[in-house]
Amino acid sequence: MSQSVMFMIDGVQVEGRAGQSILEAAGEAGVYIPRLCYKEGLSPHGSCRVCTVMVNGRPMSACTSPISLGMIVENDSPRVAQLRRDLIEMLFVAGNHFCMFCEKSGDCELQALAYRFGITAPKYPYMFPKREVDASHPDIFIDRNRCILCGRCVRASKELDGKNVFQFVGRSAEKRIAVNGEALADTDAAVTDAAADACPVGAILKKGVGYVVPVGKREYDDKPIGSDIEAKRPAAGS
Ligand code: SF4
Ligand code: FES
Repeated sequence: MSQSVMFMIDGVQVEGRAGQSILEAAGEAGVYIPRLCYKEGLSPHGSCRVCTVMVNGRPMSACTSPISLGMIVENDSPRVAQLRRDLIEMLFVAGNHFCMFCEKSGDCELQALAYRFGITAPKYPYMFPKREVDASHPDIFIDRNRCILCGRCVRASKELDGKNVFQFVGRSAEKRIAVNGEALADTDAAVTDAAADACPVGAILKKGVGYVVPVGKREYDDKPIGSDIEAKRPAAGS
């Protein structure tokens, strides 16, 4: 059995296991730490920084930082919330996210985070990039306009599907998700792949099923993102 590790989050003592990340240990204790590039079952990527927490006063990504005895973590505070809000707003303006026209609306983690943080309109100017859509595959399409470069599709394809369908190419503003062929139809991508379900936004979607669950009845339509984790939190005094 792994060794128990006691640490503090927002003034509450939490018990985790040696080797766990702050995000995982907090989650088991019912403390939600927002995340985008992290997905359970995939190796952590540490790229979106939405999971940033203060550890002993310093910013660190909770998905890649292991817990240690006596560490003091600040997760739910105005300064951490502001930092995350700024990151989320930057993601919105860096792509073309038009929620009202997007099939992923209500199931989109970026949109759900914006609601959770009370973001109505980003304070940064929209960049309106021009990005490629690839609808060549019979069952899946990629709309790079909505890609937030989280890398979940890359890791899911490699680590869970045993394929290499997706990869990053380019740098800085030119960085984008590419496929292992001229177009998605040239690859061995299948609609049953874990990668087809890994995207937190509407950048990789399955064709023909976009409105099987109607808008208004989707995962985040009536409960905030993270509420499933927070439901695990023991009631005060218990
Ligand atoms: S396509 Fe989706 S899963 Fe892949 S990097 Fe972009 S946002 Fe992430
Ligand atoms: S969830 Fe930790 S950096 Fe993205």
